[in-house]
Amino acid sequence: MEQSKNILITGGAGFIGSHVVRLFVTKYPQYNIVNLDALTYAGNLENLKDIENAPNYFFEHVNILDNAALEAVFAKHSISDVIHLAAESHVDRSILSPLDFVYTNIIGTVNLLQAAKKSWNGNYDNKRFYHISTDEVYGSLDNGGFFTETTAYSPNSPYSASKASSDHFVRAYGETYGMPTVISNCSNNYGPYHFPEKLIPLFINNIINNKPLPVYGDGLFTRDWLYVKDHALAIDMVFHNGKVHDTYNIGGFNEWTNIDLIKLLVEKMDHKLGRATGESLPLITFVKDRPGHDKRYAIDATKINKELGWKPSVTFEEGLEETIDWYLNNSEWLENVTSGAYQKYYEQQYHS
Ligand code: NAD
Ligand code: TYD
Repeated sequence: MEQSKNILITGGAGFIGSHVVRLFVTKYPQYNIVNLDALTYAGNLENLKDIENAPNYFFEHVNILDNAALEAVFAKHSISDVIHLAAESHVDRSILSPLDFVYTNIIGTVNLLQAAKKSWNGNYDNKRFYHISTDEVYGSLDNGGFFTETTAYSPNSPYSASKASSDHFVRAYGETYGMPTVISNCSNNYGPYHFPEKLIPLFINNIINNKPLPVYGDGLFTRDWLYVKDHALAIDMVFHNGKVHDTYNIGGFNEWTNIDLIKLLVEKMDHKLGRATGESLPLITFVKDRPGHDKRYAIDATKINKELGWKPSVTFEEGLEETIDWYLNNSEWLENVTSGAYQKYYEQQYHS
């Protein structure tokens, strides 16, 4: 049995964070899990309803821009470890409002590093600061190949530039102050509780509601999709067994062009909704491309596989089935998160 720990998970009310919190709360009853989240449009405590009464789960409604509140949380819960997921996460929003990404992703991360440094006060025994990042920091693979841990950073969007910057700060705290940091960079996730502004949940929601499916540019952009529960399992492994000051790439070995993925989604959704095969295909609408749109992401996940024994546990077929079923069975969740402020953003993005 693992020793007791008081783990601060930031962004635990978001998509990936909620899966990580659920995994840690249920798998490690000897750990106290403190979920710190500002509950922005993307954070939703409904995502954690099933575990909110667990005795080892605590919630702190705090913004990582609030230094005093961060310090208070470290002191109150005697935090021994951090798994940092809180971020502004959507590329399209970063194009509209880059400063929000500078504040939360860069300044918020440095605030958190400072709070940990102050609280731990040079005693790094049994401590860990684990930063969750993205493969988008590496830029775009236009001429083949894969991203490895040694690929040079070349971010193209305000989102990826802010994540790259936060990665550098985490690394710098490891080098400069000896903080026991570790970083992982993951490919595109999909699965339950994914906010319906990202490709897969947005298109599931639009197919259900017979709304247009806005395909950017020619639709030939490629992403490497990983089921979110497999990302959470990888985070568990890196947290416990990853080498301090190291980085790990996590990916699905699962590349799809957007248009092929969308056609597969339409086929599956039409079947589930009792529609004729291909009935929803006319919803596909080619729209203006995203500025600075990265052509292709693909992760070489050999290192985490060889060193930590991680590989995806479900096929894309299985993960997509589970995801579609989850959205069809959770229409109330979809309605709740797509009302209000989100609707305004959506109209601005796609219907102006
Ligand atoms: P998300 O947008 O679903 O959730 C982000 C969470 O952070 C929300 O709960 C939000 O309320 C919280 N948050 C935002 N700003 C905050 C602030 N200032 N203070 C405190 N909390 C704040 O994001 P996600 O898709 O779950 O991504 C989580 C992390 O994983 C991010 O760091 C992201 O860069 C990284 N990542 C995401 C993907 C992906 O495909 N979604 C892939 C690789 C890495
Ligand atoms: P997204 O889910 O926003 O993730 P990311 O940009 O971080 O990879 O987008 C995935 C791909 O789908 C990306 O190539 C952009 C494209 N896309 C569309 O074609 N239409 C859409 O409405 C959205 C949200 C994305």
